[in-house]
Amino acid sequence: MTDSFYGDELAAMERARDTVISAIEEIRAEDRYGNYKLVEHLLSRIKTEESAREKCRRRGLPETRESALRILTDAIGVRAVCPFLSGIYTLRDGLQRRFELVTVKDYIHQAKPNGYRSLHLILRVDGYYVEVQLRTIGMDNWAALEHQLRYKKTVRGNRELLNRELKRCAEELASTDISMQTIKDMIDEE
Ligand code: GTP
Ligand code: MG
Repeated sequence: MTDSFYGDELAAMERARDTVISAIEEIRAEDRYGNYKLVEHLLSRIKTEESAREKCRRRGLPETRESALRILTDAIGVRAVCPFLSGIYTLRDGLQRRFELVTVKDYIHQAKPNGYRSLHLILRVDGYYVEVQLRTIGMDNWAALEHQLRYKKTVRGNRELLNRELKRCAEELASTDISMQTIKDMIDEE
């Protein structure tokens, strides 16, 4: 169980997570473009004991709370899904102003070879790392489908072909995100 793994730190971890969620709500409230939702949805999770142990093992670390909290950086995860690309950067800037930024992984400018796109921030919040994933609705839908394929033992049809098709979708979605942003900007300028 998660609480036996993180022990008496679980409550503080939940507070760090809630602090980041409140900050996102604040940035959302400050956002000038009232006609658009900055965030479509907001999710968070504390990594389960099973998944934390598995990742420690994979990284050759002892399967302990110390590894999970002081070496790995994704025990606390927050994901914000935005209708438009600009929302991702509004959130990034707002979070950067409020918290110490440890790392940025920009898989939007540099997509993973499989087509995965998202902006990942590792923040330091009250002594804990918090992994924030920022993505568009298109990227989120894509990541969910790719995740399904990756963890499915067998699939009808050729896996390589499905991966190729998925990559093509990722590129089409990326192009559509840019077009949607351009149209939105032109509407907003008027
Ligand atoms: P993990 O060990 O998978 O957590 O990766 P990492 O510690 O090297 O960090 P990275 O920034 O690459 O990934 C962090 C998280 O982003 C993952 O745990 C996933 O939630 C998500 N992610 C990264 N790459 C992919 C991908 O190719 N497909 C999907 N669906 N999600 C991804
Ligand atoms: Mg992870």
